[in-house]
Order: sequence, then structure tokens, then C-alpha cells
Amino acid sequence: MNTQAVTSQTANISVEGKSIELPIIVGSENEKAIDISALRQETGYITLDNGFMNTGSCQSSICFIDGEQGILRYRGIDIEDLAEKSTFVEVAYLLIYGKLPNKTELEDFSQGLTRHSLLHEDMTHFFSGFPSNAHPMAILSSMTCSLSTYYPGSQDTNDDEQMNLDVIRILSKLRTIAAFSYKKSIGQPLIYPDNSLSYCANFLNMMFAVPSEPYEIDPEIVKIINQLLILHADHEQNCSTSTVRTVQSSGASIYAAISAGIAALWGPLHGGANQAVLEMLENIQASGDDYKTYLGKVKDKKSNIRLMGFGHRVYKNFDPRAKILRQAADKILSKLGVKDPLLELAKGLEEQALTDPYFVDRKLYPNVDFYSGIIYKALGIPMDMFTVMFALGRIPGWLAHFKEQRDSGVKKIFRPRQIYTGPTQTTYVPIDKRA
Ligand code: CMC
Repeated sequence: MNTQAVTSQTANISVEGKSIELPIIVGSENEKAIDISALRQETGYITLDNGFMNTGSCQSSICFIDGEQGILRYRGIDIEDLAEKSTFVEVAYLLIYGKLPNKTELEDFSQGLTRHSLLHEDMTHFFSGFPSNAHPMAILSSMTCSLSTYYPGSQDTNDDEQMNLDVIRILSKLRTIAAFSYKKSIGQPLIYPDNSLSYCANFLNMMFAVPSEPYEIDPEIVKIINQLLILHADHEQNCSTSTVRTVQSSGASIYAAISAGIAALWGPLHGGANQAVLEMLENIQASGDDYKTYLGKVKDKKSNIRLMGFGHRVYKNFDPRAKILRQAADKILSKLGVKDPLLELAKGLEEQALTDPYFVDRKLYPNVDFYSGIIYKALGIPMDMFTVMFALGRIPGWLAHFKEQRDSGVKKIFRPRQIYTGPTQTTYVPIDKRA
């Protein structure tokens, strides 16, 4: 899918007296870019952009963010509408296949997810090979790559039928892997998928049921899990999605790419922030610091402390996902009768930060991770599984970007350049002559 418009406008760049004209590209929401593809060939120069703050890596029709106005849309549909009215499975279809499914399409897609939920039985033994305190993100990433060994056909990335099957397998089986890794970590027997349950209910059942007593699935909890996963489902060219696209560009399999995406998501500046937020709140509580004292530490540049769950590369106004989750946290905690002082602590910190010039001047607002951990905790999901929950939500986005890039016809391997700053040519000194 390609919605770009190459305009008649151009930009002029003049380097060392040579002037060149570069095309201007305008997206469907009026985002503008200068196409610099010819820059190096024409001038010998490259661009340098730390953290890719100004660099577009692709054209995409999956997700739109307006960071100034706090807008997030999947395939043109507002995130607020999707979170309220849709299901995670429907949103996954929307992201991957570019439109809302009709009834038959949704049924077929859901059935595929149900049918492919089991792992090859040999894979269940892998879980015993990890130390009991292994981080579940490490397990999820390695198991995802290992899945490819059971489906060697996935190496042929040009086969459409194979890819659609792998999309279903990844969406379905990663949920099973996530739940199994939790069961292993607490020494409980694995609960196999139950084909009579919906996608999210099945996940809850695999996580929390035990063979010795019945487990009742609460539809309101199913709804909130659907919402959480929907809110995390895509976010255009973030670190993990860019990683997935980078791996895809080399022609590697979809399992390799998703496994790499999971690894990238793990970091505390990205998906790992939801775990870091809760750790931070617990530390503040334990230290007895008040909001002002803690924010004072955050503002002290020498401290190297950040207010986790605050700030975003793109949102310079409220993150719309955080707005939804703040309300959801209130609702779910009161429904479950949970009184978590950490929720009050989070709200107090937010209130204080939103009037503090340090945060106001830098346009730092709560992001999606600020309240999600509090909800996961109330649902009984342990802290080291929080980022796994983010990963489960983000799978459709990764798959959609893999597929979009594969189908785009742009067959260029991602291969940035650099400005070399090391020694110029130096002679090799034999070891007995070295200082
Ligand atoms: N606490 C304190 N100061 C901050 C924070 C924060 N959370 N975030 C940014 N700043 C400051 C930063 O120190 C810098 O100040 P100065 O201009 O004086 O040097 C300024 O704000 C700009 O920050 P930056 O690091 O250049 O901004 P960025 O766009 O590169 O980083 C970010 C975005 C999300 C990595 C960053 O805001 C951050 O580290 N936040 C905390 C971690 C977090 O919550 N991550 C989850 C992001 S949302 C989910 C996801 O995408 O995975």
C-alpha cells in the first residue's frame, strides 16, 4: 500500500558551492519530508541524525500519530474508538490486513488463532532449560526465534500463503509461550489452551487457572485485557518496530524479525518502562520521599534518574493511551476492590509534574507505561511479565510492518552510513614491540 504523493515542490540544498534540488514528499495527513536519496551521489555528503529524531525510514499507511495534538489512529480510526468498541483480534486484523474484517473474515481469522494455539510438544521442554528466575522477555524472544525451527518453510519469505500462516502462528503461539513461561516461573503445571475461549479469555485461563480448582473468567477483566492490548498494538516507527523492519530488510524470516523486536522492546526506555514505573513507585514508597523530593532528584541532572512513564519522542502533549489507562486504572481497581497506594502516588506525582516548569518546558507528559503497570498489578500479573504484556499487544503492529515492508516493493536492505572518527591508517605493531 502506497499513499505517498511526490509533489511538484522541491527543496534546494547547497553544499560546497554545488546546489541540488531534492523532491518533497507529502503524506496523507500533510506530513512533509525531503527525499534525500540522491544526496550522497550528488554531493558526497550524508546526513547525521542522532537517534533519528528527523529521519523518516519508510512510508507507511498503518498508524498515524500527531504528537502535538495527542492523536493516535490505526488505519485512520481513532484509538479511543477502537479501545471502546473493538476487540484485540479485530484490531490485529485491521492493522495487518489494512481494513476492518467483515463477519466471515473475522470468524476465519479467529478460528485460525484458536487452531494454532498449541506449541509443538517438544517445545514445552525448552522451558525447563531456563533458570527459574529467567526474565520472561528473554524466554519470549528466544522461544519466538526457536519457533522458526519447527516451520522451516518460513525461510521462504516470498511465499504469501506461508506468511499468512506464520502471522497466525505468531499471534496465537506467543500468547501460549507467555503464559507457559509464567507458569514455569512459579512452578505450576502448564495450562493448555482451551479452544472454546476467546483470545484474551484463553490467555487469562492459561495464566491463572490451576488443575485443582475451577477458574472463573470475568468478562470485565477480559474487556480490560482487550483494551490494554489494543492500546499497545502499534505505534509507527518506534525502536522495536524499526528493529523488525530492519531485520525484514535483510530477508530474514518473520520469526527472526519478531524475536528481534521483542529484544528491542525489553529496554527500560521502551517497553521495559512499565516495569520500571512500578519499581520506581515502590522505591518512592519505601524511601518515604514525598513527590517534591523525588521530582527534585529527577530534575538534578547529576542524579541520572528519570521519571519513568513520563516523556515521549513523539507526544509533546498528552499521550492519548495514558488518558484512557488513567481512567481504566480507577475503574478496574474499584471493581476489584483493590486499594493500591501506588495509584494515589502515581496520580500525585503526575499532578505535581504537570505544573512543574522542568516538565512543562520540556513537554513531558505521562505516557502509556505510567498507569499500565498499576492495572497489571491489580489483575495479579507479576511485575516481570508487564513488558511481556506490552509485547503481546505489539505483535500485530510488528507483523503489519513486516508485511507492509515485504509487500512494498522497496527491496533495499537497511544499511545506514556513519562518520568515522577512529585513527587513520596505522601500522601493525608486533606484540613484543608494544608498550
Ligand atoms: N524524566 C526526566 N527528564 C526527562 C524525561 C523523564 N522521563 N524524559 C525526558 N527528559 C528530559 C531529558 O533529560 C532532556 O532534558 P534536557 O533537554 O535538559 O537534556 C529532555 O527531557 C528531552 O529528553 P530526551 O531524552 O532527549 O527525549 P527523547 O525523545 O530522546 O526520549 C524517552 C524519549 C521516552 C526515551 C524519554 O522521555 C524517557 O526516557 N522517558 C522515560 C522512559 C519511558 O517512560 N519510556 C516509555 C516511552 S512510551 C512507551 C514506548 O514507546 O515504549
